[in-house]
Amino acid sequence: MSKRLLTGLQPSGNLHLGNYFGALKPFVDLYGDYDSHLMVVDYHALTTIKDATVLRSNIVDVVKDYLAAGVDPNKVILFKQSDVPEHTELAWIFECLVSVSFLELAHAYKDKLAKGLEANAGLFNYPMLMAADILLYDTDVVPVGKDQQQHVEYAREAANKFNLAYGETFVEPKEMILEGVGVVPGTDGAKMSKSYKNTIPLFGSKDEIAKAVMGIVTDSSGERPENVYAIHKLFKSDDELASLYEANKGSYKILKEALIEDIETLIAPMRDRRADITDDAVRDILRAGAEKARARAGAKMEEVRRKVGVTI
Ligand code: TYM
Repeated sequence: MSKRLLTGLQPSGNLHLGNYFGALKPFVDLYGDYDSHLMVVDYHALTTIKDATVLRSNIVDVVKDYLAAGVDPNKVILFKQSDVPEHTELAWIFECLVSVSFLELAHAYKDKLAKGLEANAGLFNYPMLMAADILLYDTDVVPVGKDQQQHVEYAREAANKFNLAYGETFVEPKEMILEGVGVVPGTDGAKMSKSYKNTIPLFGSKDEIAKAVMGIVTDSSGERPENVYAIHKLFKSDDELASLYEANKGSYKILKEALIEDIETLIAPMRDRRADITDDAVRDILRAGAEKARARAGAKMEEVRRKVGVTI
């Protein structure tokens, strides 16, 4: 039986190069070798998005992004989390197994508090919903960026706690974090993240991409503009970049323009493909994916309900 692969991205706005290189590309490169699942985690996005129109259009957009990036919906179960109510159901059961102090250690929750902001209960329980996402499908491997490592650890812990309490039920999943792309840097050198406003959009227009690249923070004291180079490395090998950066020492504008062209070479064909995908096609794909996901999640939840004692 082939091993199971699963990942998910939040429909929280335009995907950026960090999402692409950290999770989406690894998924696209790998999914053919596994029994694969790809999710739009819309209930996770509800922890931050409170506008129905925005959420609706983000959901459609992120599915288009997946398809444009090379996901064939006939070869993977592509679905929306909220279409499979077993996710929130299982999350509740895990919440009853883990302690508050354990959830208090989660980075996303701690970061929120550190900023002096109040976290909603959804954010606090977030890791258990993610554990349910992963464990419902007996997932072996979860391709993610480094920032999600702790969440996969939480999933392992939830599996472990359940298995100890009720007998062997869940597979303990492993994160797959690819070297060199675990933390894609943004335009200021920190992790690329929407909340840091340092992103380069994956499917922006050439102008939008150019604007973001021209805004990469450079420091003229060094041998080369490290923040430009760190992003450029995603597109070209060190050898290819060595001659380019040697020939253009100090010419940061030329190096940034070269980066824009390299991004464009990768993105333009995907952007064209994306423009041809209709909203109706997205709806059809999600409907078909939901049916398949529900069949799997439903069978697993029947076992879980029996084991915890709510099936009489
Ligand atoms: P999200 O939506 O924040 O990010 C989606 C994926 O993109 C990766 N990523 C990055 N990788 C490298 N460098 C970066 N700068 C960068 N920024 C983002 C993230 O690590 C992630 O893999 N909790 C998850 C969504 C989720 C999920 C799941 C993932 C919910 N359930 C089950 C896997 C399996 C999240 O918020 O990712």
